[in-house]
Amino acid sequence: MTISTVSAPPPRPSTTPLLQLPEVVPPLAKNAAQIALTTASRDFRSDTITAPTQSMGLAMAHAAGGDNVYNDDLTTNGFEASVAALFGKEAGLFVPSGTMSNQLCLRTWLMQPPYSIVCDQRGHVHQYEAGGCAFHSGAAVEPIIPANGLYLTWKDIESRIVPDDDDTHHAPTRIVSLENTINGVIVPQDEIVNIAENLRQSYFDVKLHLDGARIWHVAVKTGKSLEELCRPFDSVSVCFSKGLGAPVGSMMLGPKKFIHKAKHFRKLFGAGMRQVGVLSAAARIALEETFNKLDHTHILASWLASELQKSGAKITYPTDTNMVWFDPTPMGISLKDVIERGAALPDPFILNGNRVVIHHQTDPQALQDLLSIIHQLQGERKM
Ligand SMILES: Cc1ncc(COP(=O)(O)O)c(C=O)c1O
Repeated sequence: MTISTVSAPPPRPSTTPLLQLPEVVPPLAKNAAQIALTTASRDFRSDTITAPTQSMGLAMAHAAGGDNVYNDDLTTNGFEASVAALFGKEAGLFVPSGTMSNQLCLRTWLMQPPYSIVCDQRGHVHQYEAGGCAFHSGAAVEPIIPANGLYLTWKDIESRIVPDDDDTHHAPTRIVSLENTINGVIVPQDEIVNIAENLRQSYFDVKLHLDGARIWHVAVKTGKSLEELCRPFDSVSVCFSKGLGAPVGSMMLGPKKFIHKAKHFRKLFGAGMRQVGVLSAAARIALEETFNKLDHTHILASWLASELQKSGAKITYPTDTNMVWFDPTPMGISLKDVIERGAALPDPFILNGNRVVIHHQTDPQALQDLLSIIHQLQGERKM
């Protein structure tokens, strides 16, 4: 067979650049990444405030560049399969945020309105997702204040489930949504198993969802596997950008058919992403490298809680993991003063409420500075 000769494609013309981006704000300092890390190390607002590490940057640079919408993104495909296996679920779907992951899970389970979701009154799905349950799913939410003040039990939930019966006044419960950790507190696994068993016995058409944004901490603290912790749940949402320190990324986990449908909703939500392997590559490093560092965040949190308590502050939630909830008013000092003094230090720390969140880049010196300021304010009061 002869191959006909074709002409060569035209070469790229050498021209002067056609586009110059206007410098509206001053360009970033050369050491902007180092500055971000230093700031994060003294920022107590959340464990979302972490600086991406060098190994994440390296992994991002080497990620396979396939288009995820065409299923060509080998980096993300591999990561989804690995995380699903780690959790003992059939499939996983990488999404940009924990909010999207939760809302996609809820939307995918909810088929035929009217329906409702039972959850903790403090639950992220209810309080902090901009009314997403109503907006995306048209679902009524039945928020419950846990009787023990810490986490929901079957006793709290049972009387609030709306059965799908002949009484048409109410919206039948289709999902019970739990959160673990919730406010840094670990939900005992026995209670989760109890909730799941009762649901399956009496309300087999109600799905059990977990907002496991920080489930990593539970695994590290209890020594239980992620598979065991998530076995009772029909769907799970996990975050790589909280505690683990990835710049972006969450994953929803569940049965294959459920994830397949969720993929359709993800596209509908506008989050069909293209060469997203650059982000899932960083998330993989976050999981592989930071998971092992979480135990130190627990040690620092326990130490801080005990020092605060010794000084006379009230610890308002158990310090099970990486969050310390405190009230300095029994010491005669106000939270506002602590926040303002911290912000005025030559090396300021950032606190925006009565919660100190410790992450893998938290500088122990910043915690010492927090304690020093509290002692200083206490001393001034006694003078
Ligand atoms: C428990 C919990 N779930 C979900 C989310 C939502 O995650 P994102 O901020 O990525 O939307 C957060 C955010 O901090 C959270 O704390």
